[in-house]
Amino acid sequence: MLTKEDNEMITQVGPGTPMGELFRRFWLPVMLSEEVPGADSTPVRLQILGESLIAFKDSDGKVGIIDAYCPHRGAPMFFGRNEECGLRCVYHGWKFDVDGKCTDLPNSPEGETYKDKVTIASYPAVEKAGMVWAYMGPKDKQPPMPAFDFMDMPAENTYVMKFVLKCNYLQGMEGDYDPSHAGYLHSTLDDNASNQAVLVGQVGNTFEDPMPRYVDIEDTEAGLEMVSKAQLSSGQLVGLGHWMMPIFCTAGIAGPGIFSSNMRIPIDDENTMFFRFRWSFEPIPDYEIKEYKYGNYTHPELVPGTFLPAENMENDYKIDRVAQKNYSYTGIKNFPLQDIAMMEDQWGPIADRTQEHLLTSDEGIIRVRQRLIRTARKLMEGTEPTEPWAPEAYKVKTVRQFFPSDVPLDKAVAEVKSQRFTTRRPMIEMEAGG
Ligand code: FES
Ligand SMILES: [Fe+2]
Repeated sequence: MLTKEDNEMITQVGPGTPMGELFRRFWLPVMLSEEVPGADSTPVRLQILGESLIAFKDSDGKVGIIDAYCPHRGAPMFFGRNEECGLRCVYHGWKFDVDGKCTDLPNSPEGETYKDKVTIASYPAVEKAGMVWAYMGPKDKQPPMPAFDFMDMPAENTYVMKFVLKCNYLQGMEGDYDPSHAGYLHSTLDDNASNQAVLVGQVGNTFEDPMPRYVDIEDTEAGLEMVSKAQLSSGQLVGLGHWMMPIFCTAGIAGPGIFSSNMRIPIDDENTMFFRFRWSFEPIPDYEIKEYKYGNYTHPELVPGTFLPAENMENDYKIDRVAQKNYSYTGIKNFPLQDIAMMEDQWGPIADRTQEHLLTSDEGIIRVRQRLIRTARKLMEGTEPTEPWAPEAYKVKTVRQFFPSDVPLDKAVAEVKSQRFTTRRPMIEMEAGG
């Protein structure tokens, strides 16, 4: 549980708030590349960290992220004309380039040079891994981009889905550090359903253990490294996972050889953009992509023209009470929707953490909160965060490995940790007969 003050501090991300300032020290993914598909693309409205912005691509294909309102008299830049390397406000024709420079100010009796005095707020933006990344902090504090392995991979090695959650980023993220929810929320009543295979691959049924938990949590240069353990009848399943400041999670595994990463970016305090990302050192096979696009486990359908799941709070996520009685633990269609149904209303869109009763299995969540609050507080006192300046530390990867029951736990923990940078496969398959 948190005090009211800490809960407010950790959930508020607008400009000038302690957490908002901390988030603005990091490069964050803010939209899909396909939302600004080509040179001179149509301007797109963007809301990030409580700021109203416009994204567009100029004639050279460079992405610009600028203030949603024109500095002349505040007209919406959304309606702007995207022409010859700049976006032109249609109210009086002022034109701005991707760096926010005013390149034309045609209605100025003050003369041609008046435009040199005018700028529109703009943020550096870069396209990587199918997403547009932005840095929204002070210019002199701009760090290098995090060096995730997937940043410069060919397009066929990555896949990204985006949807919008109607809740604060933190409750959207905390489910990733909650090892004991899956065996309940995502389970089926027959205890042998095919959907369990999706979670655990070839190494057995993690749902067998009613109390999986973290056995080791360590602070790292980028965030936290967590080792979880589930005791199965056939042995122990030990998992290595990470949280990296401020919102990056090496969420579990997505399939043989395929890593997964969850990123949740605050739109404002009550709405969150969720990037569900998949990547591999090899091209991702077509059958996997098909599963991401149409499968029952990974893909909430979206309301056409939006990033909102079609099953949502308004229609109670189309819960099927008959299925809930007879087959599925929740009666809610797929894994992401089951999570979303829980997280969008935890005492409301901003969870009231003063009311919680946490357990040992919630230790990952506790440590994430502590690190965020500690770092934001230090920044408030004038100490800059070091995490953005340790880009290589973001190269850590998920490992999930099966060990026979007689392997001492500390040995198993050391074994998975030793592979944090080197593994090429998130899942180490069970040895024959093991
Ligand atoms: S309000 Fe944009 S040019 Fe006047
Ligand atoms: Fe979940």
